[in-house]
Amino acid sequence: MRQHLLSLFITFIALQAAAEDGHQLWLRYQPQNKAKVTCNQQSPTISIAQQELAAYYTGGDISLKLDATMSDDDGYRISGNTITARREAGLLYGAYALLRGEKNVESHPTFQLRLLNHWDNLDGSIERGYAGESIFWGENAFSPELIQEYARANASVGINGTVLNNVNASSKMLTRPYLLEVQRIAKILRPYGIKVYLSINFATPMALGETKTADPLNAAVGKWWKRKAKEIYKLIPDFGGFLVKANSEGQPGPGDFNRSHADGANMLADALKPFGGIIMWRCFVYGANHKGEDRVKQAVSEFKPLDGKFRDNVILQTKNGPLDFQPREPYSPVFDQIKETPNMVELQITQEYLGQSRHLVYLAPMWQEFFSFVPAKQLAGIAGVANIGLDRNWCGHHFSQANWYAFGRLAWNPALSSETIAKEWLRQTFTTDEQFVATVSQLMLESREACVNYMMPLGLHHIFKFDHHYGPEPDGFKADYPIEWCPVYYHKADKNGVGFDRSSKGTDAVSQYRQKLAQLYDNVSTCPEEYLLWFHHLPWNYRMKDGSTLWESLQYHYHLGVISVERQHNLWHTKLRHYVDEQRWHEVDERLEDQLQNAREWRDVCLGYFRQFAEP
Ligand code: GCU
Repeated sequence: MRQHLLSLFITFIALQAAAEDGHQLWLRYQPQNKAKVTCNQQSPTISIAQQELAAYYTGGDISLKLDATMSDDDGYRISGNTITARREAGLLYGAYALLRGEKNVESHPTFQLRLLNHWDNLDGSIERGYAGESIFWGENAFSPELIQEYARANASVGINGTVLNNVNASSKMLTRPYLLEVQRIAKILRPYGIKVYLSINFATPMALGETKTADPLNAAVGKWWKRKAKEIYKLIPDFGGFLVKANSEGQPGPGDFNRSHADGANMLADALKPFGGIIMWRCFVYGANHKGEDRVKQAVSEFKPLDGKFRDNVILQTKNGPLDFQPREPYSPVFDQIKETPNMVELQITQEYLGQSRHLVYLAPMWQEFFSFVPAKQLAGIAGVANIGLDRNWCGHHFSQANWYAFGRLAWNPALSSETIAKEWLRQTFTTDEQFVATVSQLMLESREACVNYMMPLGLHHIFKFDHHYGPEPDGFKADYPIEWCPVYYHKADKNGVGFDRSSKGTDAVSQYRQKLAQLYDNVSTCPEEYLLWFHHLPWNYRMKDGSTLWESLQYHYHLGVISVERQHNLWHTKLRHYVDEQRWHEVDERLEDQLQNAREWRDVCLGYFRQFAEP
């Protein structure tokens, strides 16, 4: 009897732990085993759709149908109890949509390429990762079960590709032992409709000692890449392609041999072309060729002259803003200037500059801001720098899971509102209680603006502490660092004022925008105040639209940011406890407390620093 009770108790504890540590993400369906699910064809992907519905669907029997007359994408139609799709993956997406509560809809993805980018290193560490080590690489990695759970979570929101390693790539990535690992991973992801891609180091053949140079126009180099492509596709026939960071932040690239980005990209594109692979070539390039030029202008300077010179299987991948994933940036003008080459946008899910996994910051509103300037239909794909690691709850902060979820949902349909996505996620992740959902979705929706306010309001940017990018360091300057890494370069505060003059009288970065916006941003009286100090250097007593001085307004925004977090913490602490299980409630509560402290630090350090100039 005692034994029995003990084992019951252990089972109970195990269930409790499983239910409360956040590991299940938004996938908390209760087993029903009620539905009979039939399909006119069979495949591993279709079996997954069948199993998921058979186990969890409560609304009756279901039939799945492949239909060659539907448009050729990953879309699905749910009509009564039938899911129809052109592709197998469409049936799987339809199954998850039905489980999420979608009924009688036809839905097609806006982006054909919906990718995660993992900045995972082969030693298991993750660049800008805040949720433990890599799920793919390193000593603790490669649990087939975990990778399957990862695949399922991605498929449930429609993500169909993943880059398995850091853009600062090791040349070892393309050696046989690692390619065999990639093959193992691909095998698990494949039935979930997810293709694998790799980041490559441009100098790989040379670094491995197999060629004398990495010059893209050298015949031996071209041959090496062709051979390598053949080897990869033999192991992974549906391999997606390469992501390349070249001649940026110390990475090798075609520029090392006086060749252009187009020379480099095209050489790789030719190697993958016979197998259907693509090259995603990053525009995050600054420094090397453009010493002295405003950093935010450099991508356009570098890539515009090459527009139209790329092979048709090259896509340029550009961050949403021209600098580097700041809490708020105007969109990158690359999207206005590159017209003859397909573009992809790179968003960052991991909150490198938005409080990392310590702050509750819901990113959908930021991404939607981007889409309000750059129409999604203009883009060939979307990539999100992942926030996933070996932490039990995957993302470090329970609410950071919402950013993974939101990325997937927006990659499918960027017209979905941030609110809809937040509510959808909350209902699946915590509880369907409407009071909770209404309160917490509101809190999530306000969180990004709060972060902008307590960190860098009114267009301020990059006043982060060196390297770790968490706390403030407005006086940051190191002579031995590139000036583009120094906060003082960005805010330019002195007794005369603050802000970076990118108007036509300054660096003229405004001129890279389409004409209407170029004029709007150039003129200080029409420039939206949220971008004011991004585009203008202004005196401390400059009059804002509400009549306050710039200095007063700056103080107001910093205080407002802190007050928002105070309110959020207070709500969570006093009103929301009974809706949420103990463990997750505590973990979120603790982080909100940290966030509040950090927000106060941001306000005090930044205002303290600016005060010496504003109130001398
Ligand atoms: C940022 C980030 C780096 C990263 C780089 C990139 O600068 O801090 O860690 O490598 O972006 O996107 O390439």
